[in-house]
Amino acid sequence: MPEITSDKENLVPESLAPLKLPADRELVMRVMPMPADANGNGDIFGGWIMAQVDLAGSVLPSRIAKGRITTVAVNQFIFKQPVSVGDLLSFYARVERIGRTSVTVHVEVYAERNPADLHVVKVTEANLTFVAIDSQGQPRLIPKP
Ligand SMILES: CC(C)(COP(=O)(O)OP(=O)(O)OC[C@H]1O[C@@H](n2cnc3c(N)ncnc32)[C@H](O)[C@@H]1OP(=O)(O)O)[C@@H](O)C(=O)NCCC(=O)NCCS
Repeated sequence: MPEITSDKENLVPESLAPLKLPADRELVMRVMPMPADANGNGDIFGGWIMAQVDLAGSVLPSRIAKGRITTVAVNQFIFKQPVSVGDLLSFYARVERIGRTSVTVHVEVYAERNPADLHVVKVTEANLTFVAIDSQGQPRLIPKP
């Protein structure tokens, strides 16, 4: 007969919980890069990371715009640390500005690495602007909340 364990025993041990991930912004995406996303040294291509940041950055603006949006500008993009195959990447976003037709967001990317001795590293941060567009691809007003 299987042993019955209490709920407390089924909790993730504290040592495995993510450390120092930000609490003041929203987790919008998590992804783990695969070997196909890496160069010959095992580091992940910057272009792959940029595509993920674009996707993650669009989550809050698309919620605010309540419809179709497009990226109009990547105002800043910083690669602080290399990303490796096996890193678990978490994308955190914060809305910086809501304009007439645009929403600007700040995205920070954290890598959780080395599960045996888990630590968290900020690998990338970026600032992007998205524009709400209509069915003709023209800017439209951001709806009032
Ligand atoms: C996005 C697009 C519809 C905007 O059209 P537009 O005629 O330039 O629109 P506007 O000049 O009225 O600008 C619209 C908003 O974008 C903002 N914007 C425009 N250029 C910007 C820039 N370089 N940086 C930050 N914001 C910018 C404007 O400030 C405005 O925001 P606001 O209304 O909140 O003040 C058009 O440029 C476009 O289709 N671009 C291609 C988008 C695309 O294909 N993206 C995918 C990447 S390949």
